[in-house]
Amino acid sequence: MLFFPVLKRKSTLDLSIVFHILVFFSCNNVQGKCRPGCDRALASYYLSGDVSDLTYISTLFNLKKYTEILQYNPQIKNADFIITGDRIKVPFPCHGCVNGDVLGHTFSYTIKNRDTYDKVAQTDYANLTTGDWVHKMNSYEPHMLQPNMKINVTVNCSCGDGRVSKDYGLFMTYPLRPGQTLASVAREAGVLPEILQRYNPEVDFSAGSGLVFVPVKG
Ligand SMILES: *[C@@H]1O[C@H](CO)[C@@H](O)[C@H](O)[C@H]1NC(C)=O
Ligand SMILES: *[C@@H]1O[C@H](CO)[C@@H](O)[C@H](O)[C@H]1NC(C)=O
Ligand SMILES: *[C@@H]1O[C@H](CO)[C@@H](O)[C@H](O)[C@H]1NC(C)=O
Repeated sequence: MLFFPVLKRKSTLDLSIVFHILVFFSCNNVQGKCRPGCDRALASYYLSGDVSDLTYISTLFNLKKYTEILQYNPQIKNADFIITGDRIKVPFPCHGCVNGDVLGHTFSYTIKNRDTYDKVAQTDYANLTTGDWVHKMNSYEPHMLQPNMKINVTVNCSCGDGRVSKDYGLFMTYPLRPGQTLASVAREAGVLPEILQRYNPEVDFSAGSGLVFVPVKG
């Protein structure tokens, strides 16, 4: 809106000034806000029963083989028999700078049948992202989705915060579920509740949904 009167005058000089201002702002935004990423993050994938196949999950996360998942889940004794209601850890890279200021990784997902942004986020990606966040990364409006189209699915990640603690180098993107609390998530992760809260300032762990970043030991 601000630039309209200038553009209307059709002066090349003015246009080049506008262009330089735009370039200045967009570069500034990218350089100013994006922290360096890290090689790896983990996704905490809740096995709801809708998806219960490690091979399919490894495809969603662009892993070459499902055995890459097993390395992070020594509790899985038989890959053909995984338990609904458990969570598994899925590795993914965390160097991407999404939208100029968010650490995340974007996966390519191929639309099947009547997939919607919400369904892909909630079922295939097990609430590791949301329909709104996926929509934001794609130029297609929701009604345009057709089978075999490729869409971007972005999962946020964290590489920690040196001001909180230097003890942790690996972080898990963890979707909260109904019934969980700060205490229960901390117990499950084996970290102090105070540390967990400091990594996720202002997050209500009892909200029943939403993402938190959990430091992983060892
Ligand atoms: C994701 O959240 C929705 C709504 O909160 C829920 O119905 C669904 O079961 C969740 N998906 C998984 C895999 O937990
Ligand atoms: C990812 O992070 C951005 C920036 O903090 C936020 O706006 C977005 O809602 C997050 N996505 C999810 C699925 O939480
Ligand atoms: C997916 O993201 C890439 C990189 O930001 C972008 O060039 C591409 O247009 C996006 N795909 C869709 C379907 O919007």
